[in-house]
Amino acid sequence: MSDSPKLTRRPEWTALEDHRAEWHVHLRDLFAADPERADRYVVRVGDLRIDYSKNLVTNETLALLQELAVATDVFGLRDATFRGDRINITEDRAVLHTALRAPRDAVIEVDGKNVVPGVHRVLDKMTAFAEGVRSGRWTGHTGKRIKNVVNIGIGGSDLGPAMAYEVLRPYTARELTFRFVSNVDGADLHEAVRDLDPAETLFIVASKTFTTIETITNATSARSWLLAGLGGEEKAVAKHFVALSTNEEKVTEFGIDPDNMFEFWDWVGGRYSFDSAIGLSLMIAIGPAAFRDLLDGFHLVDEHFQTAPAEANAPLILGLLGIWYGNFFDAQSHAVLPYSHYLSKFTAYLQQLDMESNGKSVDRDGHPVDWQTGPVVWGTPGTNGQHAYYQLIHQGTKLIPADLIGFARPVDELSEELKAQHDLLMANLFAQGQALAFGKTAEEVRAEGVAEEQVRHRTFRGNHPTTTILARELTPSVLGQLIALYEHKVFVQGAVWNIDSFDQWGVELGKVLAKRVEPALTEGAEVPGLDSSTAALVAAYRELKEV
Ligand code: F6P
Repeated sequence: MSDSPKLTRRPEWTALEDHRAEWHVHLRDLFAADPERADRYVVRVGDLRIDYSKNLVTNETLALLQELAVATDVFGLRDATFRGDRINITEDRAVLHTALRAPRDAVIEVDGKNVVPGVHRVLDKMTAFAEGVRSGRWTGHTGKRIKNVVNIGIGGSDLGPAMAYEVLRPYTARELTFRFVSNVDGADLHEAVRDLDPAETLFIVASKTFTTIETITNATSARSWLLAGLGGEEKAVAKHFVALSTNEEKVTEFGIDPDNMFEFWDWVGGRYSFDSAIGLSLMIAIGPAAFRDLLDGFHLVDEHFQTAPAEANAPLILGLLGIWYGNFFDAQSHAVLPYSHYLSKFTAYLQQLDMESNGKSVDRDGHPVDWQTGPVVWGTPGTNGQHAYYQLIHQGTKLIPADLIGFARPVDELSEELKAQHDLLMANLFAQGQALAFGKTAEEVRAEGVAEEQVRHRTFRGNHPTTTILARELTPSVLGQLIALYEHKVFVQGAVWNIDSFDQWGVELGKVLAKRVEPALTEGAEVPGLDSSTAALVAAYRELKEV
């Protein structure tokens, strides 16, 4: 039990409340008063240039936020985490995804044992396997070359590889087909395999626990599909199924040879597991060298987070900005708006990272919190969003802080004509940041000759905060840097809010209830204690099913 004061009673918190109460300034005025602002509020980490000048902050705001970080000992928890302390208190586990990208000679201990050699042993095993598949040395049961790789997993065992495969498509072996199956809706697996030849298909069953019902159900159906296509010979499974898991017993029980299992450890949280063995499908897609570049990108930001002083520490700054809006402006959500088609699944990935981590309402001691915790994270690629929901950000009644992410160069393989579209794409990013921050005053609208009755409709209030993250190009390393940046940002917020960002008990109840309700749907079984609303829905479902 901690005896530290409640967050909202800390003097550093009430100082921020007072500061907020006096906050009436517009971004237009902040920029007008400070010609250096655009240069000063920029932080660089690796290849990322993070411009936070269009945020509702002054030096005083930043200083007060830093004081809150000191008071809540964010860096103390950071150090304990990197050291391997069991900071995931409700599961009594260390939180060491950072060890997954540590160099071979690093020493990181859990219970007195250096875990880094194990990490590299698995990476080497993944490398040999990925090279085998890519080169055609690893063949299917009938001797045919593997041409299709299907990853079956859900949550952290799906979102990372599925997202990164999209992001890094230009780096992938284009002659191979990759599919990602997560939904227990049979349509997902059906669509993934309907045009594939089982003799050329490898299934990667990705599950930390190897007990997740969606994954095990899909993997069982995939096994039947494979055996049906290959004449029912059980031994075919060994050449077409591999497992990524911490649970050797369950993997063996499922019928996958432990030699074909790539392990990871309980100190890797599911949503932080993408750079463990869970990345195998991605490694096959982009090759081991590019995968290691990705890990190096993660590691670079890990080091930055550990060593950069508070005023230049990118994850700390981004985390504190989120706290400023969520806790003091009552912002309920945070938009992540990439200006890159390749990042189309990036925000979906961040949703699990952020919302499963910080969607909590009791503190680390189990006391209810009376402060806002994690925001709703949402967004899609920017230009598409501009023609859909940006209207609400510009002229609606809600404050929605946003990150705009863009790159200076398009990918090399585009034609010259398509590359030329890149400036237009980025012009949109810059224009949106500008419009959101500075808006358009009634005077400016009138000066355009707009009729008076239309002026209010065409006025943009502005003063909407954005952070712009720019890099030269979207490489594997840059992707690693971006993900690690958000991982540590989420960590910072959880540390300030004094919540356990590494458990996910909220997912459990639904799982348990689904298991209890299923027999009522399949066999019409009586489910004791079912509430009347759900019982009526079940009855209606059964009736419709029979018609
Ligand atoms: O959604 C809950 C969760 O436990 C996630 O944290 C995890 O990523 C996902 O389920 C999948 O779990 P597993 O990898 O054990 O199948």
